[in-house]
Amino acid sequence: MAEEEIKSNGTQFEGKEEYVKDVFTEIASYYDEMNDIMSLKMIKGWHQYMMKLAGDISGKRCADIGTGTGEIAYMLAEKVGAEGEVVGIDITPEMLKYAEMKQAERNLPNPVRFEVGDALDLQYPECSFSVVTSGYMLRNVTDVQKAIDEFYRVLEHGGKAVIAEMATPDNRFIRYFYNLYMKHRVQKIGRKYDKGESIDGHGPAYDWLVNSIRGFPHGEVMAEKFRQAGFKTVKVHSKNFGAVNIYEAVKE
Ligand SMILES: C[S@@+](CC[C@H](N)C(=O)[O-])C[C@H]1O[C@@H](n2cnc3c(N)ncnc32)[C@H](O)[C@@H]1O
Repeated sequence: MAEEEIKSNGTQFEGKEEYVKDVFTEIASYYDEMNDIMSLKMIKGWHQYMMKLAGDISGKRCADIGTGTGEIAYMLAEKVGAEGEVVGIDITPEMLKYAEMKQAERNLPNPVRFEVGDALDLQYPECSFSVVTSGYMLRNVTDVQKAIDEFYRVLEHGGKAVIAEMATPDNRFIRYFYNLYMKHRVQKIGRKYDKGESIDGHGPAYDWLVNSIRGFPHGEVMAEKFRQAGFKTVKVHSKNFGAVNIYEAVKE
């Protein structure tokens, strides 16, 4: 899908970066709870699948970009062990505050290092990481291709990107029920928290989180963006009738 088509869906617009930051600042305290509702509690399974795709990363250096409240970063940290290192990067300090709060209870041999940073301009030299993960961040950035280019740049040769993003299922029958669920359950429950208040003159938080999925490029269209960044081997793993896609891309 061309960037213009994304624009026509309203997922790219003037002031998006500030809006997205303000949305996540607003919802940080109940983000994890809402994620369980939004994913019908399937999110942990998707993260476990991402870890499986990451492979043997014991002792490796990994980055989770758009880490939010740090769930994926903590899973990576368990896998890399005492000799490895995990950095969790996010543009919204409030999300990182909640990620950091989990550090004590996780009791890891090597704590996750959380840093404020922009996925479109990572403050790391090329070939810094063996694995880069990112969950549900891509539809929130102002330039999807640039984010994927950055994943590629900071990965070492032989390194792997494992990137998850939500999508609207292609199957019409499934899509009908998916849309009902998103509208009548997710947005409704979200409303209790976000109070339907508009943010920066745009929609309330859970309107954005639901509406930004609609029409967002996925599957082969997204895989092509990974190839464009330089990744040679790109696989798309579709989960739950395509409600989430996990992209596995290797830098040769
Ligand atoms: C839907 S949340 C996902 C959080 C987490 N990865 C998860 O699996 O729950 C998207 C996150 O991406 C972050 N984000 C959006 N734009 C970003 C950017 N340009 N650079 C870094 N993080 C960004 C947001 O602040 C938010 O925490």
